[in-house]
Amino acid sequence: MLLVLIHGFPHAGAFWTPVVDRLRARPDLAGWRVEAPDLRGFGAAPPEPPLTLDRHADDLAALIERAGERQAVVCGLSMGGYVAFALWRRHPERVRALVLADTRAGADDEAQRAKRVALAETARREGAAAVAESQLPGALGRTARAGEPALAEGLRALMASASVDGIVGALEAMRTRPDSTPLLPAITVPTLVVVGAEDVLTPPRDSRAMADAIPGATLVEIPAAGHVSAWERPDAFADALADFLRGL
Ligand code: MLT
Repeated sequence: MLLVLIHGFPHAGAFWTPVVDRLRARPDLAGWRVEAPDLRGFGAAPPEPPLTLDRHADDLAALIERAGERQAVVCGLSMGGYVAFALWRRHPERVRALVLADTRAGADDEAQRAKRVALAETARREGAAAVAESQLPGALGRTARAGEPALAEGLRALMASASVDGIVGALEAMRTRPDSTPLLPAITVPTLVVVGAEDVLTPPRDSRAMADAIPGATLVEIPAAGHVSAWERPDAFADALADFLRGL
């Protein structure tokens, strides 16, 4: 049994290390393998075009096949959730179950699209460090921002190590992504929606609405966590994942 964790923007597979470590330490998940790949353009994966959500989904379908599995439980956080929707759209036979964390089904509106264009310009002009700086305030919840500087430092370093090509490609992919809202009532696999209680980018009420639209989905709200709930509260996130996996 395989669990695939899909990172957000502009992260890398290493985003998931605290959660992966906890999952691997759990005797009740001994039969599970966990993969947290770098999406192309992030971490050690070269920014080989096309850097589209569909291509990321195809890469993940190939990863599942290479792992010798017919299906995987697919967990995506934020942009990783957009990739999970693309995987469900393109390769539903590969998806055993879905975990949608701090993400949204809707497409960008005009204001969000304009922000993507401006951020791509910042990336080209000032580099990944400037993009990291601009993302941090929205990423962490108020609890982490107020009293846990190590969380900000680690995330800043991870984001600042992203390639400019990867950042620009991901911004274009997110800007042009389709609306996945019509997919929600037709999701036929077990689905868990996870959200940080302090997430201001994809807030709990929107996650509740998304969970309500997916037949049989459950929602877990992680206390004292913002938009990067898995990074901020890996214990609670791993517990929620473990409960879900055990129930499959
Ligand atoms: C992420 O964390 O992946 C981003 O918030 C996604 C986005 O910008 O829509």
